[in-house]
Amino acid sequence: NQFRTNDIRTDNSPLQIFVKAKKKINDIFIEINDYVEDTTQFIGLLRENNKIIEPKEIQNVESYNAKVQGIRDVLKRDHMKVAFFGRTSNGKSTVINAMLRNKILPSGIGHTTNCFLQVEGSENGEAYLITEVSDVKQPVQSVGQLGHALCKEKLCESNLVRIFWPKDKCLLLRDDVVFVDSPGVDVTPNLDEWIDKHCLDADVFVLVANAESTLMIAEKNFFHKVSTRLSKPNIFILMNRWDASAAEPEFYDEQVDVQKEVRAQHQDRSVDFLVKELKVCNPKDAEERVFFISAKETLQARIQEQKDQPIHNVALADGFQKRYFEFQDFERKFEECISKSAVKTKFEKHSQKGKLIVTEIRQTLDEILDRTQKMKFEQEKKKKEVYNKINFIENQLVALTQEMKEKIHRIVEDVEQKVSKALNE
Ligand code: GTP
Ligand code: MG
Repeated sequence: NQFRTNDIRTDNSPLQIFVKAKKKINDIFIEINDYVEDTTQFIGLLRENNKIIEPKEIQNVESYNAKVQGIRDVLKRDHMKVAFFGRTSNGKSTVINAMLRNKILPSGIGHTTNCFLQVEGSENGEAYLITEVSDVKQPVQSVGQLGHALCKEKLCESNLVRIFWPKDKCLLLRDDVVFVDSPGVDVTPNLDEWIDKHCLDADVFVLVANAESTLMIAEKNFFHKVSTRLSKPNIFILMNRWDASAAEPEFYDEQVDVQKEVRAQHQDRSVDFLVKELKVCNPKDAEERVFFISAKETLQARIQEQKDQPIHNVALADGFQKRYFEFQDFERKFEECISKSAVKTKFEKHSQKGKLIVTEIRQTLDEILDRTQKMKFEQEKKKKEVYNKINFIENQLVALTQEMKEKIHRIVEDVEQKVSKALNE
């Protein structure tokens, strides 16, 4: 009865790998932006001199401005995306609510979720939703209101409704995790459309299965399709409703044995599904991808704790603590997986593009420098030739002057002689 959830989360969460990487790559792109702007300015100054710069080079450099701006915009929107799939009523919406520590998404018996619901952090602390049909912000404060807002919309099951929830209410939202809830995979003939629209950029998939039954063909089919479209998707399997296996005091021993057996069976089948059927991971990793949980209990416990009320006020079945710890274990492994995967798939592409832009600009500048150096060399060569020519003419002039001087001298002497001779005569 004294159980506490021990949910003190700190900033050494594995999600920080993504958060820090995002900050770093953002800073790098600010520097690239400065570099591109400096280059554009410099090239602008040389624009008049079309011997140094070709118009195509000016165009190229100017186009990098738009490219860098484009990447910076995408970077701002980059997040970690997790999508939940499974049969109707397995508890997909409840699992997401448990992770968000709040009843945000509608859940209930029967077919509840009718279209794709994406929960993401809202920057300004407001809670609102926007639909594909209209991007007018509709405020939401409660699940009831959300359900109502969704009822009003004539949405088809593959439509997306984006729910923005205050970031300060949940660390996962603060750290850029985006949740996607889906209708049951058994209620649609449009799996391909679902995959095209909602799955191709997901970093992690969570299959919410029902531990009271077994993995169904509809669920397996969906993941077969996903793994043909994406190479080695990251998939977690949650065996939800594990509280249903709790032993009752009268039949405790027998029921505990049955529970162990059922668990081993689910575990083996799930591992086989990941390893042998989908071939998405090796047996050792697959063991770490299957969890036996109760989303309902976890959500109840977390809500109680947030209200500062003891957890034992809600009816909890035997083995609750173990299931709760397993839920936390899932969250930890999920966080590790999603942040590493998102850094790799999202930032790797951006850093390659950044590298390409910087290299191309450098090449252009090198070519310009090379060209100006050649021009300088040519000019010096010409200068030298002219100088040599001037020198030559000067020498010739000196020689000529000397010759003329001597000639005049001689003529003068000759004339003098002739004059004096004439005078004498
Ligand atoms: P759809 O949206 O209809 O596809 O269903 P869903 O998969 O989102 O299931 P939802 O979260 O709406 O849960 C269905 C019902 O199962 C609700 O009444 C939940 O309270 C209940 N439920 C969910 N998780 C658990 C669990 O771990 N244990 C038990 N006992 N009930 C659960
Ligand atoms: Mg649902």
